[in-house]
Amino acid sequence: MEPNNEKREKLKEFYFRIKNCRSCELGSTRINFVFGSGNANASILFIGEAPGKNEDLQGRPFVGQAGKILDGLLAGIGLSRNEVFIANVLKCRPPENRDPEIDEIITCKQYLFEQIEIIDPAVICTLGKYSTQLILNTTEGITKLRGNIFKINGRLVLPINHPAAALYSPSRISVLKEDFNRIKTVFDKSALDKPVLDKPALDKPVIEKPVSGKWALDKSALDNSTVDKAAPDKAPVPGKVLEVGKDQGSKEGAAGSGEGMAGSGGSTASAKNQAGNNQQLGLF
Ligand code: URA
Repeated sequence: MEPNNEKREKLKEFYFRIKNCRSCELGSTRINFVFGSGNANASILFIGEAPGKNEDLQGRPFVGQAGKILDGLLAGIGLSRNEVFIANVLKCRPPENRDPEIDEIITCKQYLFEQIEIIDPAVICTLGKYSTQLILNTTEGITKLRGNIFKINGRLVLPINHPAAALYSPSRISVLKEDFNRIKTVFDKSALDKPVLDKPALDKPVIEKPVSGKWALDKSALDNSTVDKAAPDKAPVPGKVLEVGKDQGSKEGAAGSGEGMAGSGGSTASAKNQAGNNQQLGLF
């Protein structure tokens, strides 16, 4: 298998393993399991809250109004969806788009953490309160956290307001643009091939947050609101977008009815199958 495809195949295998999840009540009310989509080799991962109505219908993250804002913000810093990966804290839509419940987050977070392990991004952008609090292991509000850069397990974490905020209050778009410009600065630095140990500090202090265990949060951790501040030290493990695929194709739901992994044999049929699966899943 080509090395560039390794993460994509791992993600795909993971998707097929979890797509029928019924670990919480949302499993019985969803239309589609929204795994996430984008470039499996991305250096940058965006994490939203949970699928809404359109996402539930299509099986892809951020395909509604908030997604349009996200696309515009990405384009503003020269990125497109097939260069990043986009996932959510919850994989299934909460009824009536209500807020995620803590038990749902605790049940679902392991899927997100596994995606982080597979994609191994250098930079994580948390969009809104839920993903920010989960990844930073804090109960601090997003208003206080946004604009800062954190370092967790060797990755840079940038909390950003949820793009949907701009739907209700258009003046917030300027804050979002400011934060996206910060992503660009950080991303440009961390997308280099070599560690940037000799580079000057980033424009904001990096706040190191020690975590016990590997992305191992439990319920009590979510109640822990301390954020330890420390001077910047090392640069993140650098990453690079290794593969830029074709445009996101099918608008169909990601959660197809087929079971099992895409074939790993070398036949044309299985290669076609694989390509079809990749497109259906929105994986590049
Ligand atoms: N809001 C989110 O947080 N995620 C989506 O996928 C869509 C809207």
